[in-house]
Amino acid sequence: MSKGEDIFKKIIAHAKEYGFIFQSSEIYDGLSAVYDYGQNGSALKNNIKEYWWKSMVQFHENIVGIDSAIFMHPTVWKASGHVDAFNDPLIDNKDSQKRYRADVLIEDHMAKLEEKINKEISKAAKKFGEDFDEKMFRQTNPRVQANQEKIDNIRSRFVKDMENEDLQDVKALIEELGIACPISGSKNWTEVRQFNLMFSTQMGSLSEGANQIYLRPETAQGIFVNYLNVQKTGRMKLPFGIAQIGKAFRNEIVARQFIFRMREFEQMEMQFFVRPGQEKEWYEYWKDERVKWHKALGIPDELFRLHDHDKLAHYAKDAADIEFLFPFGFKELEGIHSRTDFDLGAHQEFSGKKLQYFDPETNESYVPYVVETSIGLDRMFLAILSNAYKEETLEDGSQRVVLNIPPMLAPVKAAVLPLTKKDGLPEKAREVMDTLKYDFMCRYEEKDAIGRRYRRQDAIGTPYCITIDHQTLQDNTVTIRERDSMKQERISINDVKQVVLERISYHKKQ
Ligand code: GAP
Repeated sequence: MSKGEDIFKKIIAHAKEYGFIFQSSEIYDGLSAVYDYGQNGSALKNNIKEYWWKSMVQFHENIVGIDSAIFMHPTVWKASGHVDAFNDPLIDNKDSQKRYRADVLIEDHMAKLEEKINKEISKAAKKFGEDFDEKMFRQTNPRVQANQEKIDNIRSRFVKDMENEDLQDVKALIEELGIACPISGSKNWTEVRQFNLMFSTQMGSLSEGANQIYLRPETAQGIFVNYLNVQKTGRMKLPFGIAQIGKAFRNEIVARQFIFRMREFEQMEMQFFVRPGQEKEWYEYWKDERVKWHKALGIPDELFRLHDHDKLAHYAKDAADIEFLFPFGFKELEGIHSRTDFDLGAHQEFSGKKLQYFDPETNESYVPYVVETSIGLDRMFLAILSNAYKEETLEDGSQRVVLNIPPMLAPVKAAVLPLTKKDGLPEKAREVMDTLKYDFMCRYEEKDAIGRRYRRQDAIGTPYCITIDHQTLQDNTVTIRERDSMKQERISINDVKQVVLERISYHKKQ
């Protein structure tokens, strides 16, 4: 097992043990790629949502938020292109009877070649020390160049195949690359077929001729169909944005990697409507803004990278992913897409209703262009969790697991802990709890030795522990312990609220 896989297993086990994430319907052996968030998980998830919502809706005067329904008129999905084009290319292995996404098999193959390149680079970096010039090495080392050329050739052939819907050549590519089924080890593959990812259901009673409807595969369409409602009622002037957080559903075939790829998940999307011709400028602006948003959390810069797409979704003219270094490698965390007037134009055509904007500056009416930012809430959760998980050996040789969650996102901000269960300390601690709990999430705990209680709080990422001891009764002071440094300070009870509020404040990070 690689180091990354080992850590990832530990993170999954930790998430369950400490009430962050449970397998859905676990007592019935679970439902594949569907997860429930527990008491700490739902708190962390809500805090991420708030962080996103505030930075989009509250801090931008020209962005407003909505909450549209999951069920939509079936023609929405015809117009959006999802009925015809929201497909994954699938292939089955005839021996193991397992089904795979053809693009994932090919991407995994390219990732192995990339791993070889990275190994060469780290070997050379070690050998040459400070003088090592990675760019030059990539350009001149024959083994690196050969592998890079292979990757580039595979990618461009696959992209061309998908553009031309040449599924036969996708199969030929898999065979030529010698890709084997990870389970059976065989290369006995079926043809590649397209598979639509939308879940469908029936609305109304079957006897009355029910309508087939879909569970939305993205929240964006709820924004597009409300574009004019919001523009008119909010008297919005271009450029302006509409943001939304909500559930989305996709019948993912390769559903693995925990909450990275789920069948029911949540998206935080913002559609930014602009004058045609200005989309490139806004696309660059939002790429930059979104990277800054991630980095403002204090997560190391090297865990992010921007990847421009060469295989575009059916609606996009330009697209880039912000990728995060998950324990299983760099993967997409957020997408920024230049969607042109594809969606509004299609809804105008299919609905027969005008979706134009009258621009008072140019005296023209037109269908606005759209730049979209779209992030998976669950993926953001996984990025925070996997960056936060640390196993530490302390000075006294003992071990602790700590979650260095950014304080403003932590499920519990402060734990209030009486040193013992007697001598009036619990009563005093309850008083402290009552002064804090209206302003931020606190937890009161009196069971077990104080050291064990600190460890439990470390394990859920509580940034501050406030301990009430015998001195508290004499001089009205408490100790406040900081999670990461484990340093303790003595401060007045009267200052506790202000000190914690200041340190968990969103404001300070921006
Ligand atoms: N409206 C554009 C759109 O939906 P996307 O790249 O398909 O674009 C956007 O999805 C984001 O949604 C992704 O970057 C990812 O974070 C998240 N996402 C997509 N599919 C997901 C899945 N099956 N499970 C969890 N998150 C997913």
